[in-house]
Amino acid sequence: AAAEKGGYEHFMLKEIHEQPKAVQDTIGAYVKDGHVDLSETGLTDEKLASLKRIYIVACGSAYHVGMVGKYVIESMAGIPVEVDVASEFRYRNPILAEDSMVVIISQSGETADSLAALRLAKERNVPVLSVVNVVGSSIARESDYTLYTYAGPEISVATTKAYSTQLIAMYLLSIQSAFVQGKLEESCVSELLAEMETLPDKISKVLDDKERIQWFASKYANAHDIFFIGRGIDYAISMEGSLKMKEISYIHSEAYAAGELKHGTISLVEDGTLVIGVMTQKDLFEKTLSNMVEVKSRGAYLMGLTSYGNYSIEDTADFSVYVPKTEKYFTTSLAIVPLQLMGYYVSVAKGLDVDKPRNLAKSVTVE
Ligand code: G6P
Repeated sequence: AAAEKGGYEHFMLKEIHEQPKAVQDTIGAYVKDGHVDLSETGLTDEKLASLKRIYIVACGSAYHVGMVGKYVIESMAGIPVEVDVASEFRYRNPILAEDSMVVIISQSGETADSLAALRLAKERNVPVLSVVNVVGSSIARESDYTLYTYAGPEISVATTKAYSTQLIAMYLLSIQSAFVQGKLEESCVSELLAEMETLPDKISKVLDDKERIQWFASKYANAHDIFFIGRGIDYAISMEGSLKMKEISYIHSEAYAAGELKHGTISLVEDGTLVIGVMTQKDLFEKTLSNMVEVKSRGAYLMGLTSYGNYSIEDTADFSVYVPKTEKYFTTSLAIVPLQLMGYYVSVAKGLDVDKPRNLAKSVTVE
């Protein structure tokens, strides 16, 4: 088993380190000569050009990818996107518009609720694109189009590399939809793709800093509550960061849209409560910073997560983590890595079963 882990102590840490390659392989499968080529998925440019609405449906971390997808697709391609957790979608009798498409995101391709959501969409004659990691899985087989992610087998229950490749799928879908709908010039497409191709190296750069995160994580291993806050894409990152933390470290954690804090959650902030502010989006930086100041005055201990250059964060945050600069749409791919490492190192510091957290399954194939 030690050999399978390639020298790493846990599969999760191994898979965290496999992210540059997983991301690169997924980009490589669909970016050809400076263009997005989705022909392997069966999805045509004609189909993408006709889309007026997209419903993204998934569970767990894949749902958080959907949240990122919503922000990216709406802002880049101007197509309205609704995101649902599959167990809600399947029972709420959703209204599915004409010229729409359902996108099911699933690492395993076997999640029962996601599969049921797919079947519901098909019954209503809405085409389904699945974003799946496991070749030949039920969701891949039953959908009209399949965009395979190339993460390779993921063993750790807490997903890392599959999540990262699903993000790439969202960017690709967004860029190509925007292009064929006339919202993005060809030159902008090339620039975005060139930047996307730098992500593997930038992820490696974030991984080089892991000792700092390890040190900080061990200080907070006994925390009772941790709050993650952010706005826009940073809120979506917060949701995944919080899930990573709670699922493997058993510390209660919640993600909040930063502006929503004052409507309840702020009453839980006490002296020393850790609040992690995700602030990669330039136009929202000051807004979230003011929420950080608010919680600090209630005694919170602050970790700020932002991009290189935003050093003013140190006036407010007690501990700052920086990730390389990238296109605003792609920041999730970098900012999630320190948060994965945080969850991982807290779990290790507590001596927990990192790869097989209690009560959780890698793939939930029964309702
Ligand atoms: C389980 C896993 C999660 C995963 C979710 C959806 O709860 O523990 O890590 O995000 O299922 O799985 P899927 O295979 O559909 O992506």
